[in-house]
Amino acid sequence: MEEETLDPIDWNQMKDLGCQMVEDMMKYLESVRERSVWQPIPKTVKDFFKKPLPEDPEGLNKTYQDFLENILPYPLGNIHPRFWGWVIGTGTPLGMLAEMLAAGMNPNLAGGDHIAFYVESQVIDWFKEIMGFPSTASGLLVSGGSMANLVGLTVARNSKAGFDIRKHGLQAASQKMTIYGSEETHSSNQKAIELLGLGSDAFRKIPVNEEFQIDIESLKAHISEDQENDYHPICIIGNAGTINTGAFDDLNSLANICEQEDMWFHVDGAFGAWAILSPKLKSLVSGINRADSLAFDLHKWMYMPYEVGCTLVKKEEEHRQAFSLTPDYLTHTLRGIGGGEKWFSDYGVQLSRGFRALKVWMGIKEHGIRKYGRLIQQNVEQAQYLVKLVQSSSELELLAPVPLNIVCFRFLADGLDDSSLNDLNKELLLRLHESGIAAPSYTMIGDKYALRVAITNHRSRREDFDILVKTVLKFGKELVGGKYGYE
Ligand SMILES: Cc1ncc(COP(=O)(O)O)c(C=O)c1O
Repeated sequence: MEEETLDPIDWNQMKDLGCQMVEDMMKYLESVRERSVWQPIPKTVKDFFKKPLPEDPEGLNKTYQDFLENILPYPLGNIHPRFWGWVIGTGTPLGMLAEMLAAGMNPNLAGGDHIAFYVESQVIDWFKEIMGFPSTASGLLVSGGSMANLVGLTVARNSKAGFDIRKHGLQAASQKMTIYGSEETHSSNQKAIELLGLGSDAFRKIPVNEEFQIDIESLKAHISEDQENDYHPICIIGNAGTINTGAFDDLNSLANICEQEDMWFHVDGAFGAWAILSPKLKSLVSGINRADSLAFDLHKWMYMPYEVGCTLVKKEEEHRQAFSLTPDYLTHTLRGIGGGEKWFSDYGVQLSRGFRALKVWMGIKEHGIRKYGRLIQQNVEQAQYLVKLVQSSSELELLAPVPLNIVCFRFLADGLDDSSLNDLNKELLLRLHESGIAAPSYTMIGDKYALRVAITNHRSRREDFDILVKTVLKFGKELVGGKYGYE
């Protein structure tokens, strides 16, 4: 019987299709501004994805045709210059190609002595340098900010528990451990605390001041109270750029408290950490280098394609101790493929890991790190431009200070209370999305529903914010006038 393979019979046909894909995708990216940000997916297309499992080959061309017709036209929208929802980055053309190269080489970054390891190590060294961490610190590329926080908080818990938590588990704790962060802290930290078995009650959500920064006096009072009540405060989470408003906690004050109280200092800098690249914004992250662990993303404000984030840990040994486990079949050898300086699987949850580092390495080499700093500064200036547009209209209200790249505002209408304005603005946002003109997201600022514009987009131009404001005013007035049947 003839043996089979998944390689093509006709390599030229595969090569031609590959060239066609590159051609199509370059055109798709080049012309993105001419299309809608988003469009609803027709039922026929949704039904297409309910077809039965293909048992027999459909072939190369049909498969690609299905992609062109049923997948490519219905994206999330984040590659578009007027997408500013949640905190979602844009990606780049070279990033797309780097993903192809990485998949072509298809290494497994668990460990071993192969070149991808050295690429990831170099990228991590660059990050240590940028964030002011010592060269002896360790790091790991992960899927994103959520995983980066989980890795950092795991090291925090294990290092500060005071007993061998990997062996004995939480059952052995004589005191309940507590972790502190502002009420604006991203939900991924709470998820991590829950996954670590501490329970969400162990996460003390501290109030914020009017700048949405953690209230330091309240934090100190909570820690003292917990100590008096026989809890064990182990960690403070500092925010470098909160999800709602882009606020920065006073990281130096948090680091001081951690030093005084022998607590771990974890910083969630998912996107805000990158303010460090802009000479004008750098002071916002002052103290970030004092973190014991730092989480940040590359797929947000470094504009790299999904997925990639990073955790840095100041003391490598504590990082390794939290995750390393080497059964016989994973023993590191002194020579050969199983060798290498270290194995990344000793520093995180994953054993098998992809070559995420390549798109990061290529992206930074292509443009140089200074350009990223300029783009970040550009996004922050665009946020200030939008603030001015909002403030110059009596029908719009700015709902929170804008220290960084996130603008929260709403449409106002005479005689409507907050609850009615919330309904109106919710509807307005849905209209905006459905129009395909622009895509902010939403949040609550206190009791007020906000249209939330988070700018981590290297394709946005000032004119895009003019279009946004014009459209918000148009839709708002139409809604108030009952044109859409809204009363
Ligand atoms: C401050 C902050 N932390 C963590 C996360 C989670 O990151 P990811 O979506 O990459 O898992 C986000 C996501 O927006 C965030 O803004």
